[in-house]
Amino acid sequence: MTDANATPLVEMRDISIAFGGVKAVDGVSVDLRAGEVVALLGHNGAGKSTLIKILSGAYPRDSGEILVNGQPAEIENPRDAKKYGIETIYQSLALADNVDAAANLFLGRELTTRWGTLDDAAMEAACREVMGRLNPNFTRFKEPVKALSGGQRQSVAIARAIHFNARILIMDEPTAALGPQETAQVAELTLQLKQEGIGIFLISHDIHDVFDLADRVAVMKNGKLVGSGRVGDMTKDEVLGMIILGKCPPGATPGPGALAA
Ligand SMILES: Nc1ncnc2c1ncn2[C@@H]1O[C@H](COP(=O)(O)OP(=O)(O)OP(=O)(O)O)[C@@H](O)[C@H]1O
Ligand SMILES: [Mg+2]
Repeated sequence: MTDANATPLVEMRDISIAFGGVKAVDGVSVDLRAGEVVALLGHNGAGKSTLIKILSGAYPRDSGEILVNGQPAEIENPRDAKKYGIETIYQSLALADNVDAAANLFLGRELTTRWGTLDDAAMEAACREVMGRLNPNFTRFKEPVKALSGGQRQSVAIARAIHFNARILIMDEPTAALGPQETAQVAELTLQLKQEGIGIFLISHDIHDVFDLADRVAVMKNGKLVGSGRVGDMTKDEVLGMIILGKCPPGATPGPGALAA
C-alpha cells in the first residue's frame, strides 16, 4: 500500500500546452507516489501522450509547474528529466534491432574500459543482473533484439529504464502491440517495479488491464482532466462514463473537464 500522506514523487500542476490554436493539454493536475501505478485514460487525442511528453522533457509546457519530491523541477529536455529519475518507455520502444540486449541497455551511455574501448563484459554482466531481476527466464543475451518476442523486447526496454535508476517510469501503451501472454508478462513486470517503490504513469486503452494494475486513474477529455480517483472507489462502467461522457462519478474527484452536474 502506498502512503497517501507521503510527499508525491511527482506533481504536475495546472499544465497547459497548445499546438497552433489547439489546447492539447489544458490546466491538468496529476500526481504520483512511490510504489503507485496511476493510469492515464482518455479517447484518442485526449492529450495523454502530450501530458507525459511534458514530464519526460520532450515538449516544453506553456504554463504550469512540475514538482519532484516536493521541489520545483526544471525539466526543459529529456536529459533534465532523466536527471530527476524520470524514464519513459514509448510504444515504439526505440530499441536498436540489430544488437543484443546489453548493447540496447547501454545505448548512448556505453561503458568503456580504461583504454577507451567498449567494455562488453561489464555491460553484459550489468544486463544479466538487471534482466535477472525483471525476467529471470530470459536467456537470449547473445541475440539481436529483433529476434526476441514483443514481451521480451518490452522487458529490455524496461531494464534500460530502471538500470539508470528510474524512480518514475512512464509507460505509454506498453502492451498495445502484444499478445495476451506477453501482456501478462509486462503486467507482472509492472507489479514488480511497483514493489521496488517505483512510481508508474501507465497510459492504456485496456480498462481491464488498468483495473488489474492501477491504484488510481486520471481521465482526460479534450485536453482537460475529467477527474481522478482510486480504482477501488469506482466501477469500470463509471470510468467508461468519465472517458466517453466526461461524467465524474461520486467516488472520484472532479477536474476542470468534468461535465457540469
Ligand atoms: N506535435 C504536435 N503538433 C500538433 N498537434 C499535436 C502534436 N502532438 C499532439 N498534437 C495534438 O494534441 C492533441 C492530443 O494528442 P495526444 O497525442 O496527446 O493524444 P493521446 O491522448 O495520447 O491520444 P492517443 O490515445 O491516440 O495516443 C491531439 O489533438 C493531437 O492532434
Ligand atoms: Mg497517445
